[in-house]
Amino acid sequence: LRRPVLDPVERTLSRCVTVDDVRTAAHRRWPAGVRGYVEGGADGEVSLRRNRQAFSDYALRPFTLRDVSRTDLTTTLLGSPASAPLALGPTGYTRMMHSAGERAVARAARTAGVPYTLSTMATTSIEDVARDVPGELWFQLYVWRDRQLMRELLARAQDSGYRVLMLTVDTPVTGLRVRDAHHGFTIPPQLSPRTVFDMARHPGWCLRMLSGPMITFANINGDRGQTPSGVMQFAASQFDDTVTWEDLAEIRQLWPGPLVVKGLLRTEDAVRAADAGVDAVVLSNHGGRQLDQTVAPLHALPEVVDALQGRAEVLVDSGVRRGTDIAIALALGASAVLIGRPYLYGLGAGGEQGVSAVIGMLCDELRRAMQLLGVSTVEELRREGPGLVRRVA
Ligand code: FNR
Repeated sequence: LRRPVLDPVERTLSRCVTVDDVRTAAHRRWPAGVRGYVEGGADGEVSLRRNRQAFSDYALRPFTLRDVSRTDLTTTLLGSPASAPLALGPTGYTRMMHSAGERAVARAARTAGVPYTLSTMATTSIEDVARDVPGELWFQLYVWRDRQLMRELLARAQDSGYRVLMLTVDTPVTGLRVRDAHHGFTIPPQLSPRTVFDMARHPGWCLRMLSGPMITFANINGDRGQTPSGVMQFAASQFDDTVTWEDLAEIRQLWPGPLVVKGLLRTEDAVRAADAGVDAVVLSNHGGRQLDQTVAPLHALPEVVDALQGRAEVLVDSGVRRGTDIAIALALGASAVLIGRPYLYGLGAGGEQGVSAVIGMLCDELRRAMQLLGVSTVEELRREGPGLVRRVA
């Protein structure tokens, strides 16, 4: 007879085999508005769907009869060791997915030995995360209209010990998230019959939200400070549609450590970023949340890797859900992948334990994929990549 699992989080996670299972578990816990916010893409969600489709456009061609008894996922990311070619990308308003929020995600990342990127739009402050969960922390910056505020954020991240700065450049304006509009979704939630009914159907989520601190825009107003009415509107008003390469040059001057530019899809932009002295680029369409109908970042990858010739590391995100996805990205020349929604599913389903479970699943799947491909190290996977993967659609 199997020992009954009493802890509800443990019970939920023990039933999950894949990231998709964790996603289903998170969906059960989230009100429709939160579900829509996490899952939604922009406009017709073509970019969102294409991100997943892109991985099916490649086929793997494994080597056989090789000793794969000692597989090693460790690698180096921007000069620091990582236990896997994986980093947690920045996501805003994380405490809305679970009151444990950014600290829980950072802790799970630290335990797993992979970097965590705190978003400008975080609901826990730069200082609080660094103090409570010191480790390999990256900070994601948006160029705000208020440049002084942007410089302050950068200085605070540096003072708090964040090693890597990630500048997101695909957001001169916010994409139209149709699901949010349909749900009447706002942060903080505005009470209407619909939102009250929605939240009442998820009492666990409501109780956790009430027991934890309110969702605040921690990096702008102070963690315990006032919540501006309509946080999302405030943020939207702060995105700057005049940002140019000159801003990148200024940020390069201001930030002494590794600098990453996130949100590129064009080869000449990646080359120009390398010329400007960035250490890595992240090919990304923001998980399909900004411009709709874009090329999938995965499809942009081979040309960018070829053009950069190792002058900057190339990371990719948007649509990574399985270990084989990571294997394909690495075989196509990526140094690592970022994940966004997968760890939010983990957080929603089970707080820190859920995030750990998701990272664990992806690493186990990647290890198995490498063994079945006949490669033992991340370096070998990237070196043998051209022979291992073929585009079939
Ligand atoms: C994001 N993403 C994001 N990116 C960023 O640079 N700053 C941010 O604040 C956010 N916020 C955010 C919130 C939510 C709910 C999601 C789902 C995504 C984009 C994120 O970093 C990453 O590029 C995508 O999530 C990658 O795609 P997948 O893994 O979600 O498919």
